[in-house]
Amino acid sequence: MTKRILIDADPGIDDACAILLALASPELSLEGVSIVHGNCSLEQGTINGLSILELAKASHIPVAKGCEKPLVQPSLLAPETHGNTGLGYAKLPDPQNRPVVQHGCDYLIEKILSSPGEVTLVAIGPLTNVALAIRQEPRLVHAIKELIIMGGAIRHEGNATALAEFNTYADPHAAHILFHAGIPTTLAPLDVTYQCILTSQDVERLQNIDSPISTFIKDATRFYMEYHDDYQGIEGCVINDPLALALTFAPELCDYQELPVDVDISGGVSMGKTFADFYNYEKKPANMKVALGVKARDFVELFLERMEMLAGSVGV
Ligand code: BDR
Ligand code: CA
Repeated sequence: MTKRILIDADPGIDDACAILLALASPELSLEGVSIVHGNCSLEQGTINGLSILELAKASHIPVAKGCEKPLVQPSLLAPETHGNTGLGYAKLPDPQNRPVVQHGCDYLIEKILSSPGEVTLVAIGPLTNVALAIRQEPRLVHAIKELIIMGGAIRHEGNATALAEFNTYADPHAAHILFHAGIPTTLAPLDVTYQCILTSQDVERLQNIDSPISTFIKDATRFYMEYHDDYQGIEGCVINDPLALALTFAPELCDYQELPVDVDISGGVSMGKTFADFYNYEKKPANMKVALGVKARDFVELFLERMEMLAGSVGV
């Protein structure tokens, strides 16, 4: 049986790759995408979400526009990482489709409550939509089958500040709400995603298939690789969001620890920093499963194979 999933994203280069991976994975049925502010504005992210689905001939999948701003913090976008449009150097045709009329939070609530215990939610942007949705409709807590979050940096340095990861830094209060909500949660932090590096050779390999999918990946990741080189001295680019997505159907890619995890919202230098109480000083129960080890190359190979399959099926 295929696993029913919803993606909440801020598309974004690696978000776009995660959406493509979901479409290329026979284990999954992607039922909808809600959009949140983050890598780019809500407006642009919505256009990107629709365009990516159209690129992969999946325009039947609904896109819902969610929150434009974080709950408390001022808005933070990431043009240096993802480019002004959010998709690097890729240029996609304007989408033909429109987002659904429902707000992203209402969309998540309706989809999840209509099939309690059946839908896995993969959150790969700042957590504003999901946090607001559970505040609006607390029954969601028990209706979500599993929440997989790409976010946080447990033992790893930050990528938004010295300490904090982008998604938890962009809306730490939303992350705080979700971490303490009681939803069965798996966290894919930078500790694992920063080991998953897509190289220029990998992207070159995809060019053997003449398809708008391989061209998109080449144009989008070229910008993302320049960012990784300029800012972090990394050759290639880190594909954070696709790893979180892959954990829905290949959890064995990672090793996990059940831990009490929290996020700093005190407003100081560690604002948005996630931390785990490994020695349980606070005597609190674990609130999530944290991925701390990853078979990184196995995952990158899986990603490439599936992109080859998708590129082959979409064609020129
Ligand atoms: C996360 O932040 C964004 O730049 C990426 O899309 C990913 O979701 C990584 O910190
Ligand atoms: Ca993202």
